[in-house]
Amino acid sequence: MAQQDVILVTGATGNVGRQVVHQLLAEGRAVRALVRNPDTAGLPDAAEVFQGDFTSPETLRPAVAGVDAAFLVWPSLPLADAPAVVDVLAEGTGRIVYLSSAGVEEDKEDQGDPINQFHAGLERLIEKSGAEWTFLRSTSFAASLLEWADQVREGVVREAFGEATRTLVHEADLAAVAVRALTEDAYVGRKLMLSGTAPISQIEQVRIIGEVLGRPVRFEEIPLDTLREQMRAEGWTDPDIDGMFAAYATMATMDQPVWNTVEEVTGRPARTFRQWVADHAQDFR
Ligand SMILES: NC(=O)c1ccc[n+]([C@@H]2O[C@H](COP(=O)([O-])OP(=O)(O)OC[C@H]3O[C@@H](n4cnc5c(N)ncnc54)[C@H](OP(=O)(O)O)[C@@H]3O)[C@@H](O)[C@H]2O)c1
Repeated sequence: MAQQDVILVTGATGNVGRQVVHQLLAEGRAVRALVRNPDTAGLPDAAEVFQGDFTSPETLRPAVAGVDAAFLVWPSLPLADAPAVVDVLAEGTGRIVYLSSAGVEEDKEDQGDPINQFHAGLERLIEKSGAEWTFLRSTSFAASLLEWADQVREGVVREAFGEATRTLVHEADLAAVAVRALTEDAYVGRKLMLSGTAPISQIEQVRIIGEVLGRPVRFEEIPLDTLREQMRAEGWTDPDIDGMFAAYATMATMDQPVWNTVEEVTGRPARTFRQWVADHAQDFR
């Protein structure tokens, strides 16, 4: 892919897409960013911002026209909305790099949870689209812990499954891999398994956050019934809550995967969880 080629980034205001925009610009690439609201996007001036919404696929056409590769982030939208979006992207660009999940299981019709179900569905649509593709199958994002920010400020994080471990990945590492897949041919047709450097329990995550911030923050285990009530209030259904509980129970007892893919693709080791906290210290203060 040539330096002057144009790359479209969807999810450009999100955890990973925003990093992809910055890292592509730092390499001197021509970047288009798809956002729903250009006024609040807060993206660098060097990015060409296009307004578009996946729920109205026709709005994507101006952004996609003449693009060489696209980074696709699928938000929490029904899978039924995806075929038209993938069609528009595949018509307009030769390559789609899709942010997927490490939980997707090959050739399984029923993935067992709604998130992996839509990722598997998106992967299938993209494979059939005729575009070149790369799937970034990621473990949990460290950025998901930003939802603890208020509790960290209070000094107590109340959660269940304190012993549950995850190999949390830094969004900057996901973006660095995305940049290589968008701009080099070596990753076409690859399903890249991506993780952080080590499995860390929730109790340890909280301890490290406190250490890096330089003040005490403790983990407090809450009963599952309390968590269920909180999740119901947030709109979760009971089957999805049960699925989430089962997943966390597994994380407390089974080794979580660590892959070296970030280093293999980018030439530098994945950032540690401690580094992620340091990079987000302001978000927790
Ligand atoms: N969190 C994890 O642990 C984890 C792990 C593996 C995979 N993933 C996957 O990663 C993806 C989320 O990535 P992220 O965390 O970088 O994103 P994010 O921070 O959740 O941001 C979502 C992005 O999607 C955009 N968006 C929302 N609705 C849209 C619509 N109707 N049309 C077009 N764009 C829309 C938002 O843009 P605006 O609101 O600005 O328009 C925003 O840029 C999901 O598919 C998730 O399943 C997450």
